[in-house]
Amino acid sequence: MKIVSIVGARPQFVKAAPLSKKLRKKFNEVLVHTGQHYDPNMSEIFFKELGIPEPDYNLGVGSGSHGEQTGKMLIEIEKVLLKEKPDLVLVYGDTNSTIAGSLAAAKLHIKVAHVEAGARSFNRQMPEELNRVVTDHLSNLLFCATKTSVVNLKKEGITRGVYFTGDVMYDAVLQFVDQGRKTSKILESLNLKSKTYLYATVHRAENTDNSENLKNIISAIAESSEKIIFPIHPRTRKMMGGIELPSLPNIKMMEPVGYLDNLILIENSNKVLTDSGGIQKEAYFLKVPCITLREETEWVETVEDRWNILVGADNKKIQQAIDKFEPKGKQSDHFGDGTASDKITKIISDLS
Ligand code: UD1
Repeated sequence: MKIVSIVGARPQFVKAAPLSKKLRKKFNEVLVHTGQHYDPNMSEIFFKELGIPEPDYNLGVGSGSHGEQTGKMLIEIEKVLLKEKPDLVLVYGDTNSTIAGSLAAAKLHIKVAHVEAGARSFNRQMPEELNRVVTDHLSNLLFCATKTSVVNLKKEGITRGVYFTGDVMYDAVLQFVDQGRKTSKILESLNLKSKTYLYATVHRAENTDNSENLKNIISAIAESSEKIIFPIHPRTRKMMGGIELPSLPNIKMMEPVGYLDNLILIENSNKVLTDSGGIQKEAYFLKVPCITLREETEWVETVEDRWNILVGADNKKIQQAIDKFEPKGKQSDHFGDGTASDKITKIISDLS
């Protein structure tokens, strides 16, 4: 059986790392990188650190408007699929690479498997939500990270080919956190002691492309008395250039970090502030309180367990959460048991 797996953006490299390893033991996997993320610290570092095989194809699509980026991917992915004639196309998550991969495959009558199916924010202003909904409706195999995702699909009439497998991102944390603890030098290089700082990331369009939101978030963290470690996504850096900001002496701004440094910076922080879906979960897995800079989340279990609080881009709410949010809730196995990659491989194998 031949599987074409499609990745393109940071979180997909992380999701592919544990699964690709398992798939290659049983199947012929062809890896396609769309080139959506292309800076060395947004792409190459993940392949190196996580031991992801060199992509068989790099489509070099790069940045652009949604239509332009997705359209170019569609054209190039179709060429690869016509040449490789796979039995299955596997896509991850909710990016433009995901929708392009699933649409190209479905139109060629190639079966589609979606890892992280059924996640919903119910906010159709988010490009990710549109990508997920369409991808799920095109997919034949839908691997859900949580039981909530299974229910979300059911409400949309999707019940065939749906499996609760747990989250491959949990597999990845369990597999790599020890390596990070042993090899990461990030705390030393930033001269940081454990539990003396907050870790912040911002990259979502709703926060970066809305200058009011971006300003509110940055002012809120600048006004706090905490030291803030803030790796900056290229889109955010670009948008920050265009707005007037207060002085930011307590904020350590830096280039985006690789996966291992990211895990270590989360684990050793007092709290995380983020609008990333992946980092909300990583904070939960590493038992660090998370303040989410969005109005809603796909990962509602983290909020129900009270390890995550939604504050949007509201300056006051952000400051209150920085000062007062102290989770004491217990955690459960909402995201599976760390063997999602084995389960997904077995399901594909049993069906082939
Ligand atoms: C994408 C995903 C988002 C995911 C995120 C992870 C979509 C719609 N969004 O958002 O769901 O959480 O990846 O990071 O697919 N840029 C660079 N170098 C790079 C990559 C991007 O400079 O290597 C800059 C470009 O100016 C680009 C902008 O960042 O226009 C945005 O990149 P893009 O891939 O379009 O979306 P992300 O914001 O990264």
